[in-house]
Amino acid sequence: MFRLDGKTALVTGAGRGIGLGIARALGHQGAQLVINDLFEDRAEAARDELAGEGVAAIAAPFDVTDGDAVRRAIEALGAVDILVNNAGIPGREGMELKAFVDMSPDEWRPQVDVNLYGVLNTTHAVLPGMRERGSGRIIMVSSDAGRVGTQAGVTIYGSCKAAAVQLVRNLSQEVAPLGITVNAIALGLMNNLPEEYSDHLVRGIPLGRLGTPEDAAAAVVYLASAESSWVTGQLLPVNGGNVPA
Ligand SMILES: NC(=O)c1ccc[n+]([C@@H]2O[C@H](COP(=O)([O-])OP(=O)(O)OC[C@H]3O[C@@H](n4cnc5c(N)ncnc54)[C@H](O)[C@@H]3O)[C@@H](O)[C@H]2O)c1
Repeated sequence: MFRLDGKTALVTGAGRGIGLGIARALGHQGAQLVINDLFEDRAEAARDELAGEGVAAIAAPFDVTDGDAVRRAIEALGAVDILVNNAGIPGREGMELKAFVDMSPDEWRPQVDVNLYGVLNTTHAVLPGMRERGSGRIIMVSSDAGRVGTQAGVTIYGSCKAAAVQLVRNLSQEVAPLGITVNAIALGLMNNLPEEYSDHLVRGIPLGRLGTPEDAAAAVVYLASAESSWVTGQLLPVNGGNVPA
């Protein structure tokens, strides 16, 4: 079950972290991988790391916020059967939690650009090919911050993540007749967070630990596979057991 042989999977922001874990798992299930990242060296290092595990991948560095670059890159790739919209900030580098009232509109923009426009750009670019082939899988990597209130300082981030989930729900209705499914996972606190954030927060996780890239990847593999063909428009929380109030 869950084999992906013959499928091409593009994972954005896969140069490290959760995206790399997702790419690794898709590759081990037989998918041909396309590793996207903003940073060329990161994408190439990830490709080389996976090659060392016997997983074939190509590196495709581009900025998901640049609509023209996204279109050009995806045209050059040919068929993309599986798109995983993983690129997102804040990640480990941009993990500055700042109250909305203290942010300027200039500080909102990068968040909206990556977390929302990035998703729109890549999704829009892969859809024509998927429609032509009559099949496709689109998976968003969202966050509990886009599902429930989690903490102060993630207002813009969480709003963008929630918008992407609502995109999933509505787009799924449009493209279901075309054989394309669109789903999202909402990740909770992951083990690549800086310790100052995670130490006290882990106590609130019912299953008692932070999430791993492998936890995220297992859910994505399912949603990418033929076995999930009757599942679309859904948000799957992968978060150690935090349920909505
Ligand atoms: N880490 C967590 O606790 C956590 C929790 C919930 C959701 N998430 C989500 O999981 C996803 C991955 O997070 P992570 O912790 O692995 O982050 P990370 O920062 O470790 O990795 C993200 C990667 O995306 C790349 N990237 C950033 N902007 C890009 C752009 N414009 N174009 C292409 N690539 C770009 C970065 O270079 C980086 O390699 C994100 O969408 C994040 O919002 C993370």
